[in-house]
Amino acid sequence: MERDDVLAEALELARSWLRSLPDRPVGAPVGAEELRARLDTTLPDEGVDPVTVIDRLAAAVEPGLVATGGPRYFGFVTGGTLPVAMAADWLVSAFDQNPAATVMSPAAAVVEETAAAWVLELLGLPAGAAVGFVTGGQMANFSCLAAARHALLAGEGWDVEADGLAGAPVPTVLIGGHAHSTLVQALRLLGLGSRRARRVPADDQGRMRPDALRTALAAVEGPVLVCAQAGEVNTGAVDPLAEIADVVRARDRAWLHVDGAFGLWAAASPERRGSVAGVELADSWAVDGHKWLNVPYDCGMAIVRDPGAATAALAVSASYLAVGSRDPSAVTPESSRRARALPVYAALRSLGRRGVAELVDRCCALARQAAAELARGPQIRVLNDVVLNQVLFRVDALGDVDTAAVVERVQRDGTCWVGGTTWLDRPAIRLSVSNWSTTPEDISRAVTAITEAVGRGRTA
Ligand SMILES: Cc1ncc(COP(=O)(O)O)c(C=O)c1O
Repeated sequence: MERDDVLAEALELARSWLRSLPDRPVGAPVGAEELRARLDTTLPDEGVDPVTVIDRLAAAVEPGLVATGGPRYFGFVTGGTLPVAMAADWLVSAFDQNPAATVMSPAAAVVEETAAAWVLELLGLPAGAAVGFVTGGQMANFSCLAAARHALLAGEGWDVEADGLAGAPVPTVLIGGHAHSTLVQALRLLGLGSRRARRVPADDQGRMRPDALRTALAAVEGPVLVCAQAGEVNTGAVDPLAEIADVVRARDRAWLHVDGAFGLWAAASPERRGSVAGVELADSWAVDGHKWLNVPYDCGMAIVRDPGAATAALAVSASYLAVGSRDPSAVTPESSRRARALPVYAALRSLGRRGVAELVDRCCALARQAAAELARGPQIRVLNDVVLNQVLFRVDALGDVDTAAVVERVQRDGTCWVGGTTWLDRPAIRLSVSNWSTTPEDISRAVTAITEAVGRGRTA
């Protein structure tokens, strides 16, 4: 049967890709131009049989694939995929359920409900909070801030959903000096403005300074939205959330949001929970599944303490849809979407509470190993306190241009993949350990490749 044939072919191709991950060059060997030449880019008049399509597609793109799911990919904050989460994701496609409304898929709705409750419990967040399953940290920040915008303006007697922002008593927004770009993007999308947001100074690890927040808040009248962060994208540093919550709670007409795209998972580890102490005092939280939980792209969660605020801001209504306040899409900005809670359920069911903590702790231990081995290299200086899974370093003996060149050489070599960044106005290199399959040997191999690339810079 044609369907079985094409699915069997895809399974074989997927297996062969996954088996190749530990050994293949991590970066993509060829760039976009060559890929365009390899791919059929002219829309055909006549169709081709499905097995041939899948075969040719896989063969054409193969040299342009990056081994992001492999054990030595340390770019951005890119989680691997647990096999069980991948299997559940395949079922998501096969079942093809739309969790917009419970009536469309009672199964998807109930799995969302269960996965949501588990995530809240693991992260130590209020059991009654709303959890919207969205595409990632970006949309989680957007959804949470939409709920914040609703609540703060409703408190001023303004219905922003009905009347928009023109003439509204728009809240003041305070964000950390190192707030993630997607948080700023959320402010833009919500009409709160990126330039209007006031930056609260941060310390040398990128943490918001509570004393500076107190000063900034003292100068603010009216409703205020404060956005803190658990996990700075370069250093992994967590804002002092308990102190920040105290400062924000001392005034009314205030909403505290925490962008914890990856760092919030520290709460799932008894060993690391202290680093996010006070996180439960916020009003909303953004967290990713596709980063540290190691479910496949795409998956983020928007968590809002007051489900009424989330629903008021995000629920769609149409006579034919019958989406009620308890339907999954009442707390997401989307209507139709993938049943992306299934892989979350599968990952959590398979790992259990202990397994999630071990995943978090293992990545942190590997990051510390990387930092210690890198620091042994004569010219490398680790710039951050390695509190979570991020290592930030610079090649001191080389100039700024050569530090950036080291990143390119490492990527070209293919043993591992690390990315460049700018830290305190100078080029730096970041290494993020976010994959369940990374081993101590992978870290040592990566460090060797990096130090060799540094050495080649000196002799070049
Ligand atoms: C702190 C923080 N917030 C938000 C995001 C954006 O997440 P996503 O790429 O899933 O939209 C990231 C991504 O690295 C992040 O580190």
